[in-house]
Amino acid sequence: MNPIANNVALALSFFICISFFPLLNAMPDITPTCEKTKHKDLCIGSFQESYLGRYLPENASPKLLASIIIKIVVNNASDVSRNLKTTVLEGPVPLTPEVRAKYGICDQEVVSAMKELDKVRTAMEMSNRRSEKLNMQAAITNTENCVKELTQVEAQLPDKKQFDEVVVLKEMLENIDDIIKTMG
Ligand SMILES: *[C@@H]1O[C@H](CO)[C@@H](O)[C@H](O)[C@H]1NC(C)=O
Repeated sequence: MNPIANNVALALSFFICISFFPLLNAMPDITPTCEKTKHKDLCIGSFQESYLGRYLPENASPKLLASIIIKIVVNNASDVSRNLKTTVLEGPVPLTPEVRAKYGICDQEVVSAMKELDKVRTAMEMSNRRSEKLNMQAAITNTENCVKELTQVEAQLPDKKQFDEVVVLKEMLENIDDIIKTMG
């Protein structure tokens, strides 16, 4: 390429970049989707906090939005599980055998919830409404079980942080359930 053509090409690609930039920045409006949920602020907040929403087209369908919200929650669950393992089960604070056992059960429940959520996503892709609902309910029950276990030993917990994280996770799952229920 001669230098002039080179400059034109450069200017052109620069122009193309600039004109696409607003598109990349525009996020879909999550409010109508989150409007239907019990924990609405959490629904909107977790979507806006996550990097996952940034790659969506502005006009993303409700189904796509729901699947992204599920993905955000799966990531969250995996962080909750990691924190249970690294900061509590393998953490520096000695635990009584009873508290250790409860945390252990709780972590297994969170891991199961993640597996159920994977099934929900597959069910959504295949438009299997029955499996969607069943697996969603199973995932919620998993987190409820975890909360119950920790509630039994709440006074003995070295730190409330993980407990609170599980409660938030449960609320996020309830939100997905609300979203799925209102999808056609
Ligand atoms: C899970 O998501 C909620 C909402 O975005 C956030 O407040 C919380 O810190 C997350 N938990 C973990 C363990 O990342």
